[in-house]
Amino acid sequence: MADAPAVPGPTDPAAPPAPPVPAVPPFPATHREVRLAARARGALGPECFTLAEAPLPVAGDGQLLVRNRFMAVTAAMRSMMTDAELPMPSFVPGRALWGAAVGEVVRASCGFAPGDLVVHPYGWREFAVVEEARARRVDPQALPDPAAHLSQGATAWGALTRAGRVGPGDTVFVTGAAGGVGSMAGRIAKRLGAARVIGSTGSAHKVPYLRKTLGYDEVVLRGAGPAEDQLRRAAPDGIDVLLDTVGGEQLRAALAVARTGARFALVGALSGQLGDGAGVAAPVELDSSLVVTRRVTLRGFSLYDHSDLPGEWMGEFGRGLRDGSLVFAHTRLHGLDQAPRALCELVQGRHTGAVLVEL
Ligand SMILES: NC(=O)c1ccc[n+]([C@@H]2O[C@H](COP(=O)([O-])OP(=O)(O)OC[C@H]3O[C@@H](n4cnc5c(N)ncnc54)[C@H](OP(=O)(O)O)[C@@H]3O)[C@@H](O)[C@H]2O)c1
Repeated sequence: MADAPAVPGPTDPAAPPAPPVPAVPPFPATHREVRLAARARGALGPECFTLAEAPLPVAGDGQLLVRNRFMAVTAAMRSMMTDAELPMPSFVPGRALWGAAVGEVVRASCGFAPGDLVVHPYGWREFAVVEEARARRVDPQALPDPAAHLSQGATAWGALTRAGRVGPGDTVFVTGAAGGVGSMAGRIAKRLGAARVIGSTGSAHKVPYLRKTLGYDEVVLRGAGPAEDQLRRAAPDGIDVLLDTVGGEQLRAALAVARTGARFALVGALSGQLGDGAGVAAPVELDSSLVVTRRVTLRGFSLYDHSDLPGEWMGEFGRGLRDGSLVFAHTRLHGLDQAPRALCELVQGRHTGAVLVEL
């Protein structure tokens, strides 16, 4: 067998000069992350968070180093600051919070390359080490804005198609309609053929926004009289589908005006999560005889059960954004240091749509 040709090495006088080694590494030695200072009890304030500087994490085998560009702030994060029972792990005092983020791969192992854009679950920090299995590469051309990959539309889409099964001519009621999930649901329901879509909010100044931007025909305003009376006026013939993120009085009102065969998709319980008690319990008294006589289906929906939904939703979202039937409603804050404020203000109802922090 012939000898392999000699590979020029560093001691080989024939070798070309080695490229200069940068004196400064391309990444900083440290980065910042937001940690949970203590479990939140009562009103949420800046004292619940710590903005800490930490050594840049090191990616091992099968891991990526990702520079985060955008992170999502959601109502569920308020619940994850408590020790309530949830479908996902809660935040741990002294450790960084986590949640959906979009970032750029800066160090890659097999399967990914530097520059790839990925969605992953390690927000609330400037750099993240991400296990390859937890990173989902996104096509930079799929959506006009990479931040739109943090839309909560997949939940709205899944709840309306899988649990609510919206069809042509339906009347649909969406509670929490100006929030991350609700802001997507009105227009999605219309795309699915709904004839009339009613949304609820607790903020009077959001009513025109619901009507003009988010596709809602009528609005139920929390605190402006009994929800049932408002809903009866908005839907004189009753509702076929409920997408509920609030619970409490609004869920009871929806049952009172449900048509025979109505489908209720229960997605969240903001009245318990963000209400005065700030837990997750949202007890409500329902007339079970109505459930029986009108054959109403009440179904809890969790995105965690549907791994196929994000991909399916991205196709739908891209088409809807391009043809103008969907909008990516969101509020964008800038800088990791603004993330605690973003969550405190979300709880107070000060934002509309998905709440994102650009890093
Ligand atoms: N099942 C799943 O797979 C899944 C996935 C994602 C989210 N979720 C759940 O869906 C719900 C919505 O999530 P999101 O992130 O889109 O939240 P969000 O609707 O953006 O939450 C913030 C909004 O909640 C409203 N709000 C504040 N206090 C309230 C209260 N006491 N009662 C009722 N509404 C109140 C405010 O809107 P107004 O000013 O308009 O009232 C505020 O802007 C949450 O319960 C979340 O946990 C479930």
